[in-house]
Amino acid sequence: MVEFKKANIKMASQNASNIVFRKDYTAPDHQIESIDLSFDLIPTCTEVTSKIIAVPQEDRKSDDLILDGDDLTLVSIKIAGEDSFPGQYDMRPGKLIIHNIKERTEIEIVTRINPRNNLELSGLYMSKNNYITQCESEGFRRITYFPDRPDILAKYRVVIRAPKDYKDLLSNGNLVEQGELLDGRNYAIWEDPFPKPSYLFALVAGNFVAQEQKVTLSDGREALLQIWTEPANKGKTEFAMQSLVKAIKWDEERFGLDLDLDRFMIVATDDFNFGAMENKGLNIFNSKYVLADENVATDQDFANIEAVIGHEYFHNWTGDRVTCRDWFQLSLKEGLTVFREQEFSADMLGDESSRAVKRIDDVRVLRNSQFPEDAGPMAHPIRPESYRSINNFYTTTVYEKGAEVVRMYQTLFGKDGFRRGLLEYINRYDGTAATCDDFLNAMAESNYEDLSQFELWYSQAGTPRISVETKWDEIAKTFTLTLRQNNRTFPGKPAPKPLMIPVKIGILDDAGNDIPLQLEGEDSPDGTSRLLILDEAVQSWTFRNVSTKPLLSIGRGFSAPVIFNTEYTREQLAFLARHDSDLFNRADAFEKLTLQMVDQFITDLSRRGAQNAMPSESYLFAFEDILNDDSLSPAYRAKVLEMPSENYIAENRVLIEPALIREACDLIKRRIGQRLRGSFEDKIKNNQTPGLYRPDAADAGRRALKLLSLSYLAYAQDAKAMQQVRNLYKNANNLTDRLGAVNIAVQASLPIGEELLSKADVEWKSEPLLNNKWLALSTQLRTQRGKRPTVDLIRALTQHPKYQDHNPNSIYALLGTFFRTGGPEFHRPDGMGYQLWVDSVLFVDKFNPQVAARLARALENWRRYEPTLSNLMYKALKYVSEEKNLSPNVREIIEHALT
Ligand code: ARG
Ligand code: ZN
Repeated sequence: MVEFKKANIKMASQNASNIVFRKDYTAPDHQIESIDLSFDLIPTCTEVTSKIIAVPQEDRKSDDLILDGDDLTLVSIKIAGEDSFPGQYDMRPGKLIIHNIKERTEIEIVTRINPRNNLELSGLYMSKNNYITQCESEGFRRITYFPDRPDILAKYRVVIRAPKDYKDLLSNGNLVEQGELLDGRNYAIWEDPFPKPSYLFALVAGNFVAQEQKVTLSDGREALLQIWTEPANKGKTEFAMQSLVKAIKWDEERFGLDLDLDRFMIVATDDFNFGAMENKGLNIFNSKYVLADENVATDQDFANIEAVIGHEYFHNWTGDRVTCRDWFQLSLKEGLTVFREQEFSADMLGDESSRAVKRIDDVRVLRNSQFPEDAGPMAHPIRPESYRSINNFYTTTVYEKGAEVVRMYQTLFGKDGFRRGLLEYINRYDGTAATCDDFLNAMAESNYEDLSQFELWYSQAGTPRISVETKWDEIAKTFTLTLRQNNRTFPGKPAPKPLMIPVKIGILDDAGNDIPLQLEGEDSPDGTSRLLILDEAVQSWTFRNVSTKPLLSIGRGFSAPVIFNTEYTREQLAFLARHDSDLFNRADAFEKLTLQMVDQFITDLSRRGAQNAMPSESYLFAFEDILNDDSLSPAYRAKVLEMPSENYIAENRVLIEPALIREACDLIKRRIGQRLRGSFEDKIKNNQTPGLYRPDAADAGRRALKLLSLSYLAYAQDAKAMQQVRNLYKNANNLTDRLGAVNIAVQASLPIGEELLSKADVEWKSEPLLNNKWLALSTQLRTQRGKRPTVDLIRALTQHPKYQDHNPNSIYALLGTFFRTGGPEFHRPDGMGYQLWVDSVLFVDKFNPQVAARLARALENWRRYEPTLSNLMYKALKYVSEEKNLSPNVREIIEHALT
């Protein structure tokens, strides 16, 4: 039996926390008209002077001005120009309360902070010797006392003073002055013309290089774009700059939304808790979403960079110009901006097949990570009702399901209707803090629709399940479709109501062609795809003139974030995979077919260790058919034929048995590799990308199909393929191929796996991006009989020079990937995987609760695992919950998991 031992670690900084409820929102009693901030930057003792103008509101409940503060040393307070005296203010945990603010009053507060010790990376912190800020959601209160809530919009003026070796001093808005002080230090003064909430404040100080470019905006104005990085990363920002220019043009063209600033800056840093941050005019990025060249970034990284640069830029309108009233409205800016980002990426790809690949990818993210969240103990509506730590609600539900909800408006109203609604929303709320209801109303009113039922998407959690029943009357030539929606019930919550669900369908005839659709009561057919609105618990539609045996294609393009329970036979799925005119649904049908086969293998393997199980001939035929279909882009074929992830397979099973899932997947891949060798070899030969590396979709697609083919052959332990993997690693002129080769060798347990991994350890020049890639690759090593368990290796790697134990990217790359991949290397019956999880969560929680809480989520669906594992997971969770000094962030996750 395992025992969960204490990790040995430093002391925690604790912040008070209570549960916050959406229903408790009240408007602030005081607004802040403006804030003058001045910083004297010193690593361990930075002095911050904040001069605010507080304005009491007419309808206020109290004259107390409530300021938030966390981890600050108060130096002095002046009220209306006078030194304060006892009784004028009070300190409570996390709050500074100034009494009797009955008129417009200037308040000056001086505090000291310690950026060097700030390992939470929230507030003002140091990344090597550079100063960086991160304020969303509640980091500004770690810089100075301020009403740190998004419905307080103030004008900012910022003075930065720093030692003379700090050349670049940046903040939001316009640079109004810079120079040298009498004592030799440097200073800079910035003014942001747009009032903003505190979470959008940013400051950066250091020595950087900037790539600059001027763009002419649609109204003829010129704007300066700058991407700042450390000098060592010079030359890796070209792609990010192109992406930024594309994003600016796209928002002009698609929505008529222009850049509103003369200067737009991006800064890249290696020390960052998440992807990137949309601070007004000064976006701060995790360097993995900015820096790229053929040796440090893969095709996927290039695509991510374009998407994240777009995402943060689009926030300028959806987030910054119109912000959120409170954090429960987070999806108002995030769901909307993810949707805009997805549309941008799709538009950059252009052709229909590439767009389908993008849609398949986005839906896979949703199904792999949001569906389990919505089915588990952390389920919440896209607009949550309560939280303990808001940082725990930057979830795939708020982001990705939120984006699907926004997409449904476009599905309902069309692109023009959506644009009209979005612009109406921006017109109404520009310069203010809005709510999800405001967005819905703007959409509804500008499209003359009643969306009161649609509102339930914001308040009901859980993935709706829709059972699908069809009936063909051969004599009457009618086809009847009946849909029943079933929504998750939550104990103590009112029974769920039927949602308004757009269901896009088509009907295939027996030759695989779309049937023209004519509903009962219509005079003539109209189109071959139809949007049905399911807004009752049960609903039926009857189509006329269906004279050959029909086959339904439902949820085309993934028209709503739901699960359709269809009961297709294998033959029907294979037929859809071959013929559906909707490329998303073709892929979906093939995936369902694969999942059915995986289930069959798992059953066979658990019953009788059926090592000679074989995929059906019809499956192999369908597979090969797609593989060789040159009318489909290589990218699309690679996407469709990739085996579903072990996590996704797990999500589709009642009881999760990680070892069996792995065994089934490996065996299936081996069989496919053995049987389709010729076709795979052909794909490898015909999808080379000679010449200069280009990260475009066409070349990336070819590389993907080549690597996929190589991977199936590797699983078959094909000798020639092994040689090809080795050569690919050696001769590749880009990281996609090089990393792909190692990945294949490691995952398929080729004899050269460890050898390639140690080569890469030495050869990948010591640079953070590559270090993290290498760490993540190492987690994919399969534990082989009689060899050292992977979990031991992972533990040992926490001491490796490539691993920086306080750096979020390092932690995510090694521990996050290991826990999240969720294979039998982590889910060990001896509990050693969970022991590493316990130690990691507790260790990281001492200095960075936000990152620790993300790691902590790896065990939340413990109830679904086979009993041996689920008992151990329960013990591990219990062990962590008994830790007294747990951060509120981790505590919230663990408590949810245990209740
Ligand atoms: N607003 C940032 C973005 O869109 C993410 C900020 C995450 N903040 C947090 N506290 N988790 O993408
Ligand atoms: Zn965002």
